[in-house]
This record gives sequence, structure tokens and C-alpha cells, in this order.
Amino acid sequence: MQPAPGGAPAQILRAEPPGGTYSDKVVRQFVAATILWGIVGMAVGVLISAQLYWPALNFDIPWLSYGRLRPLHTNAVIFAFGGSVLFATSLYVVQRTCHVRLISDKLAAFVFWGWQTVIVAAAITLPLGMTQGKEYAELEWPIDILIAIVWIAYGVLFFGTIAKRRVKHIYVANWFYGAYIIAVGMLHIVNNLALPASLTKSYPIYSGAVDAMAQWWYGHNAVAFLLTTGYLAMMYYFVPKQAGRPIYSYRLSIVHFWALISVYMWAGPHHLHYTALPDWAQSVGMVFSLILLAPSWGGAMNGILTLSGVWYKLRTDPILKFLIVAISFYMIATFEGPMLSIKTVNSLSHYTDWTVGHVHAGTLGWVAMISIGSVYSLLPRLQGLKEMYSIKWIDAHFWMHTLGVVFYIASMWIAGVTQGLMWRATNPDGTLTYSFVESLNATYPYYLGRLFGGLLVLAGMCLMAWNMYKTVQLARAPAPNPVLPPDAAEARA
Ligand code: HEM
Ligand code: HEM
Repeated sequence: MQPAPGGAPAQILRAEPPGGTYSDKVVRQFVAATILWGIVGMAVGVLISAQLYWPALNFDIPWLSYGRLRPLHTNAVIFAFGGSVLFATSLYVVQRTCHVRLISDKLAAFVFWGWQTVIVAAAITLPLGMTQGKEYAELEWPIDILIAIVWIAYGVLFFGTIAKRRVKHIYVANWFYGAYIIAVGMLHIVNNLALPASLTKSYPIYSGAVDAMAQWWYGHNAVAFLLTTGYLAMMYYFVPKQAGRPIYSYRLSIVHFWALISVYMWAGPHHLHYTALPDWAQSVGMVFSLILLAPSWGGAMNGILTLSGVWYKLRTDPILKFLIVAISFYMIATFEGPMLSIKTVNSLSHYTDWTVGHVHAGTLGWVAMISIGSVYSLLPRLQGLKEMYSIKWIDAHFWMHTLGVVFYIASMWIAGVTQGLMWRATNPDGTLTYSFVESLNATYPYYLGRLFGGLLVLAGMCLMAWNMYKTVQLARAPAPNPVLPPDAAEARA
């Protein structure tokens, strides 16, 4: 057996034979897609970060312009990277916790190829400038219809598998996955109701402030259910699994679930402070955002305290480090979010890079780290191995990613607060103290800081891809003939 460079030799553990009891082909495919689209989406993120520092990097080519690549970045990281890891882990977890195969391999294949078609269609149409102009819902109506069909098929696959489970109990991770599947399907369909004018152009059925409210009801809950609830499901499965301990409090996890899903839906108006939206609606959004702190931190503590009694494992297990630091970033983002929702704070932060810093504390810190930790945890099991090819590389990845995120968000916090303060500064005669260009100049150094952080994160993802490739190779390598020590060989003779 080839020793893994991480130290201990990788042991073969054939308890779950590849392609054996469970329908794992689709899980493997989605894991591969996660890494591929993660690298692509983050590379586009790095490119647009560089464009903000060196605008000439668009080479005067329309489809390389910032305005077209930015939605390509957000769609690629949220739906291609974030979506694929949610498909992979939910279909992995539902089988293990329900003790059954997926209801249909054909339906699973349809979900995988359908979703990849959506991603490729997005990667073609967005750089061509085809867009509905709604953030995170840019894709035009034919692609939206495909998304709805694939999503319903995914729901049938997931809930169908739950329905034929062989254990009475439905493990809490499946509740979170279930809520995310139902909510995202509903949000997508309602927000994308539109009248097609041609194959590539449509107009929403809503108008004015109603359109804005529908859009941010969607936008906020896409964050809530796609970028949060689904990943909390990962937390509830992979943290206990990796720590080798049951979840800290099962009762708290149920309270967490109901509190979170009943509060999140009402917080959307915090994206529309000081707009044409009625003032009372803005206040409702703010109050529900403040209340959200409680279930968010309660759930996060449930994840972190699962390590009670085994904290020492953090010293040697970089996968646990990924999972626990992810939860810490979740706590940062869910503390910062309610603060940003307070109208007076929002009057400083809105339109500035502070929002972008908050977004990436949530997405790069929480979403990406919990996903990476979960993939490192499940991939060897999928391949019938005990651990990844190299533990040292996982540790290196952990530090690259963590440092990258810190560089990214610290740069954006400083840039954002600087912008907010400069824009609102006035002279005694009421004129503005600074011109816009002065505030832009003050921001530049921090754009370089973000670019550096992004490059570190991207390099870490490439290392992960290489580690995964070597792990798959290790699992495929034929078991070598055992070389017996001379004494034993002689004794047999
Ligand atoms: C208690 C939880 C949270 C609350 C109350 C909250 C609140 C907020 C607020 C007030 C804004 C700024 C709106 C604006 O000025 O335009 C915002 C923006 C945003 N947040 Fe959060 N946040 C929370 C958690 C998270 C998490 C965990 C993530 C990611 C996983 C996240 C992702 C985003 C995104 C993507 C935006 C930018 C939306 C846009 O303008 O495009 N948030 N959030
Ligand atoms: C190498 C890593 C990354 C880099 C360098 C990067 C860079 C960027 C840049 C430059 C922007 C535009 C900011 C602006 O318009 O001022 C952006 C926006 C955004 N990114 Fe990333 N990003 C990365 C990873 C991610 C990941 C993994 C996710 C989600 C899982 C994500 C989600 C978003 C979102 C939601 C926005 C829109 C924010 C808003 O509207 O306020 N990014 N990113």
C-alpha cells in the first residue's frame, strides 16, 4: 500500500464499497463538479478583483467587462460550486441516515446532467450580456424553466428517498436539507415569474417597489436557505461524524430548526432600507434581522460544543479545523448581519465595500469552509479509504484559506468604513468634504489586499483538487502483494 505523505499510511476501509450499497455515482459526480466549479468561480472572482485594481484587464472586450463577469462570478460560486456541494452532500447524507439507496439512479443522473446544463447555459449567456437584471436571478426565462424542472426532480429524489427510509426517525440534517429544497424551489419560481418578449428577453410580472420587494424576498432567502440552511445540514452531519461524538444537544437542533425557518422569511426588507418600500416594512425587516441573531448563534454553539471533551482533536485533524472555523465565520457573519440591518448602521454601510466584506465572511468563511471540510470528510469514505491522500496538504489548505479570508474581509471592512465616512463628511457650509475620486483613491490599497487574499484561497482550492486526484488514484491502485519478513516466509516454507 502506498504510504500517504501526510504521515500514516492510508488504510483501506471497504465498509462502503464504491458503487456498492448506496447510489454513490451521482455523489461522486457532484463532488467533482464542486471542485471544478469552485476553481472556475473563484478564478473569476480573482479576475474581477484584479479588474477593480487594474481596469485595463477587461482588454476592451465586452464579454470580459466587469459588469458581465461579476454576475458570472456570483452565479458560478453560489449555484455551480455551492449548489453542487449541496446536491453531493444531501444525496450522500439522506442515504446514510435513512439506510436506503436513492429511489432512482436515472432520476439522479437527470438531476446531475440537468444542473450541469444550467451551469453551462449560464456561463454562455451571462458573458454575452443576456440578463434579467435581478441579482442572483440574472438567468433568462428558458434557463429558469430548466432550473425549476431540475429542482422539482431533485425534490422528488430527496423526499422519495426519505419516504422509503428503513428507520422511523428522520435525522435533523435531513430537516435542514428538506427546508432548503422546498424554500429555494418556491423562491425561484415566484421571483422569476416573467413575460417573455423573445427567447433571450423577458420582463417580470411585478413592477416598481413590488418588484424590488419580490426580488429581495428572494435574494435574502436565497442567502438564508441556499447559503445557510443547506450548510447547517452539513454541520449537523459532518461535525459529529468527524469529531466522533453525537451532536451536543439534539433538542436544541430541533428548536434551532423551527426558530430559524420561521424568522428568516421576514428579514428581506433590510436590503431595501431608505428606498420606496414603505417604512413599516423596512422596520419589520430590521426587527426580524435582530431576532435572527438568537437562533443563528444557538445553532452555531450546538455545532461547536459537539467538540466538548474532544477539543484536542483540533490539534491533529485539519478537517475538523475547517469545520469549526467555518462555524466561527458563521457566527461573525450572523452577528454582523443584524448590526448592518439597523437603519442607522445601514446608512453608513450600504453601497460600500463593507457589505462585500460581510458577504465573503459568510460565503468564503462559512459556506466554502464547511463545504471543503465536508468534502474532505466524505471523499475518502466514498472511495473506500480511511483518509485523504495527504493530511499535510489539507492542513496547508486550511491555513491558505483562513489567511485568504482574513485578508479579504479585513480589507473590505476597512475600505467600506472609509468609503462610508468619506461620502458623508461635510464642510461647515454644507458642501461635501471629499470628491468621489478621493474616496476611490483611498480604497485602492485595500483592493490589492483583497486580491492577495483571493489568490491564496484559489491556490488552496487547486491544492485540494490535486489531493483529491491523488486520493482517487490511491483508491484505484491495485493492492500490492504483501512482502513477508524473511523469518515468517521461512517458517511457512
Ligand atoms: C443573522 C443573519 C444575517 C443577517 C441579519 C444579515 C443581514 C444582512 C444585511 C443587513 C445586509 C446588507 C444589506 C444592504 O445594505 O444592502 C446583508 C447583505 C448580504 N448578506 Fe447578510 N446577513 C446575515 C447572514 C448572512 C450570511 C450567513 C451570509 C452568507 C452565507 C450572508 C450573505 C449576504 C449577502 C450575499 C449580502 C449581499 C446582498 C446584496 O446586496 O447583493 N448574510 N446581510
Ligand atoms: C477567491 C475567492 C473570491 C474572490 C476573490 C471573490 C471576489 C469577489 C468580488 C471582487 C466581488 C465583487 C465585489 C463588488 O462588486 O464590489 C464579489 C462579489 C460577490 N461574491 Fe465573491 N469572491 C470569491 C469567492 C466567493 C465565494 C466562494 C462566494 C459564494 C459562495 C462568493 C459570493 C459572492 C457574492 C454573493 C457577491 C456579491 C456581493 C454583493 O452584491 O454585495 N464569492 N466577489
